[in-house]
Amino acid sequence: MQINVFFSPNHLDELLLRDKIIVVIDVLRASTTITYAMRAGAREIIPVASVDQAMKIVGNLHSTSTILCGERNGKRVDGFKLGNSPSEYTEEAVEGKALIITTTNGAVALTKAKHARQCFVSGFVNMSATVEALAQVPGLENETLHILCSGREEQFSLEDATCAGMLITRISQKFSNVRYTDSARAALSVYAQFGSDIPRTLRESDHGQILVSLGFEDDIRLASEIDSVPLVPVLEQNAIKKKLIFSDALREEVELRANRGLNKPPVRKARVSA
Ligand code: MLT
Repeated sequence: MQINVFFSPNHLDELLLRDKIIVVIDVLRASTTITYAMRAGAREIIPVASVDQAMKIVGNLHSTSTILCGERNGKRVDGFKLGNSPSEYTEEAVEGKALIITTTNGAVALTKAKHARQCFVSGFVNMSATVEALAQVPGLENETLHILCSGREEQFSLEDATCAGMLITRISQKFSNVRYTDSARAALSVYAQFGSDIPRTLRESDHGQILVSLGFEDDIRLASEIDSVPLVPVLEQNAIKKKLIFSDALREEVELRANRGLNKPPVRKARVSA
């Protein structure tokens, strides 16, 4: 297998990623948040690049089970139900719902990957699960894996590059004959330099400092918890509907929730009196 890294989706043509095997990373915070949302039972997540597009889609759907989510300048968009903090994505908020999400970098990277043959969403929270998911991709050992970092404001970001480096390290322990492009080697060296204290690296990164100044320090803590959510969201074309689960306990939790949904009393239609 060969591994390649894009440090930003900027200038990346979506057709270049067509039919490729891709992992999209946005540690702070979109990929962490999307992983939390899928664990909490979101039915589907549709990433879109702009606020206007998100409004248009939700307007066309006319559905009460679809909610608008995301941020601009780190803060929840006015009129949206949820922002981009993983902790907002509770069962109560998202179970059974379709989420239209737009974020400054992560959602943009995901839209670029919509023609991929296989696209996984990854961060520190689902690091081992991502490696397990990749191990299930048929023929990957003879192909190139592209890791697409969302970066920040169309630039390199330290937290995504560190995460990419950790992922490459873990993949190399699992697969044999792994080769690296120059960008993959660079990610490995970023990880060697900054990977020993992930919470600190995240907190001291450019994006981390902005999040701290906005009062989102807890999001950084959650995003740095390695393997806290053993689940991998899968993007297929325009939407994330599928999740791969790599823990019995989490599988049980998800099944319990599904059964609870089936046992819900039917919604009675209100009687219309003349
Ligand atoms: C993004 O996708 O741009 C990030 O998740 C921004 C943020 O921290 O909300």
